Amino acid sequence: MRRGLAEGAGGPMLCPEYCMHSHTETSFNAADPLQARASNTDAADSPQRTTPLTIRSLAKMMRSGQRIACLTCYDATTARWLERAGMELLLVGDTAGEMVLGFPSTVHTPLDFLITLTAGVKRGAPSTLVMADMPFLSYQADDAEGVRNAGRFMTEGMADLVKVEADRSFAPLVARMSRAGIPVVAHIGSRPQLSKQQGGYSAAGKSCADALALLDDARALVDAGAQLQLVEATPAEVAEQLVRESPVPVIGCGAGPACHGQVIVLQDLLGLTAWQPAFALPAIDFGPQLLAAARGWMHRVRANDLGPHPYTMSDAQRIAFAAAAEARTTRPAGSGGTT
Ligand code: KIV
Repeated sequence: MRRGLAEGAGGPMLCPEYCMHSHTETSFNAADPLQARASNTDAADSPQRTTPLTIRSLAKMMRSGQRIACLTCYDATTARWLERAGMELLLVGDTAGEMVLGFPSTVHTPLDFLITLTAGVKRGAPSTLVMADMPFLSYQADDAEGVRNAGRFMTEGMADLVKVEADRSFAPLVARMSRAGIPVVAHIGSRPQLSKQQGGYSAAGKSCADALALLDDARALVDAGAQLQLVEATPAEVAEQLVRESPVPVIGCGAGPACHGQVIVLQDLLGLTAWQPAFALPAIDFGPQLLAAARGWMHRVRANDLGPHPYTMSDAQRIAFAAAAEARTTRPAGSGGTT
């Protein structure tokens, strides 16, 4: 769920009760510059992955009680770093519409754009599972269109999983997608694509009746074939019961610690957003570092301080060029010819 830019021209805006923001190579090559720049904690924290993860890897992690780490990702360069970090799952969320395109909500995120980003993320992180988000109106109007669009995420976007925001009324669509061989993620709980209809963002399952409805939605979607669930913004005890009842891994986004895995928006984690939800506080304050690097570049440009120049001519070519350049300089303009 996202969130729009929290800061207007007049400063930070008030956030609604639940609003995440305010306001998408199996082996690593030693010649890869990323390899050289990766920190030495790399090897200790995340041993190199030798085989690509599959949906079975997630089920195995669920059974063994190993938590699944997921972040949103929208480009190949970042995906490469996140794969190197050892992330199991990357979400090319419809939040790309906000984080990349600057729209005020996810309902504006274009389908083709998201498919293109998904392919970029998968190319950057080929051994990591990539989950693509189906954007607003790419699956709600018609089931057949939904199946085809989900298929595009797999064929053109190389996605491993396709996520739909859903309740039990989408079970027939999930069944059709599953029948077609599409690994579906059911996004339940708070559903940002409904934010216009609901007048904003809100947490889900806060009353007993709503919590039970959420559990029934989950059951219907899993029965229809969903192979993963993503539950957003619920009280912890609701997610706890969901996990108890779920035969498939449950990824939480602001749903508490019982979930088999957790996802947040990368820009929140990096401290690049104007506001972050309490469950996605920044791990680093990257904004000021970005500012410092940009300002350093500005100063260097203004001082003409470009460092050593990387492209050179051989002596013979330099001498020949100097003579030719001299002739061009001394020849009166418009005299034409090279002899
Ligand atoms: O689009 C997205 O980024 C999401 C997560 C925040 C769950 O759906």
